Amino acid sequence: MKDRSGDAVRRLRARGRDVLDRIGPKFSEQRVIAEATQYWSARADRAWEGNSHWRDGIPDQWEQVGRDHFALFGKLARVLDREPTIGTVVEWGSGGGANAVAFAPHADRFIAVDVVQASLDECESRTRAVCETPFLPVLIDVAAPEEAIERIGPGSCDLFLCLYVIELLPSQEYARRILDIAAELLGPSGVMFVQIKYRDNADRAPHKRNYARNLASQTIFPIDAFWQVAVAHGFEPEVVSLVPQNDLDHNYAYVLLTPSKQDRG
Ligand SMILES: C[S@@+](CC[C@H](N)C(=O)[O-])C[C@H]1O[C@@H](n2cnc3c(N)ncnc32)[C@H](O)[C@@H]1O
Repeated sequence: MKDRSGDAVRRLRARGRDVLDRIGPKFSEQRVIAEATQYWSARADRAWEGNSHWRDGIPDQWEQVGRDHFALFGKLARVLDREPTIGTVVEWGSGGGANAVAFAPHADRFIAVDVVQASLDECESRTRAVCETPFLPVLIDVAAPEEAIERIGPGSCDLFLCLYVIELLPSQEYARRILDIAAELLGPSGVMFVQIKYRDNADRAPHKRNYARNLASQTIFPIDAFWQVAVAHGFEPEVVSLVPQNDLDHNYAYVLLTPSKQDRG
């Protein structure tokens, strides 16, 4: 017979850990960056391939991820003054290539950025299986994402994708660094398509510690706060679309951003 009291104790312990991670003192930025580096490089838990969106890790959702994102991007892009160019695409946190296989066939060049070489290799082989678009992998250090700017080239990107990534960045401060990097990489007529996990009216506090067990909700934003952060970092938010629930998780907002006019020169 199943030991129901054991299950109840496990659930209670998990709940206790969850509450502590939300109300306990915040770990330093440096410590969270170190934990994130350790998590992604170690590939220690069984969920890693799923968390990295490799096809074998999320076999039932993988194709849908890229298909849905490409369709949503096309739909949201209709609010822009003119059709965006999908020339050079940079995907920040490309994982196992779910988006790459959907976007790269329409691009002139696809640049995949990630903190894990094995994910870049996986992304490259999935992408090469569907198209001949030139593919450039860029491995970065979690602690030094800005290194990507010189390697890719300031102003050289037409479309900057950041999907299923902001939520697992070490902090809101770190997410701001990624917005700055995107602003540097995008040309004046470029577009950023970003997904954030949003804080809803249930208003639970974000996790402040223990990266590995809370990585899917490490960095969340109220939607209006993200809008303002984007403006502060040189973007004009053009449109937002919500996905309160999908097969993978919940509370997602997709935002299409363009470089703000005053920064366009
Ligand atoms: C959930 S997967 C998302 C993959 C892909 N964007 C998608 O939508 O399927 C998250 C990816 O972000 C990468 N990642 C984690 N921290 C990162 C960081 N600071 N900068 C860039 N990529 C990061 C991970 O290695 C992983 O490949």
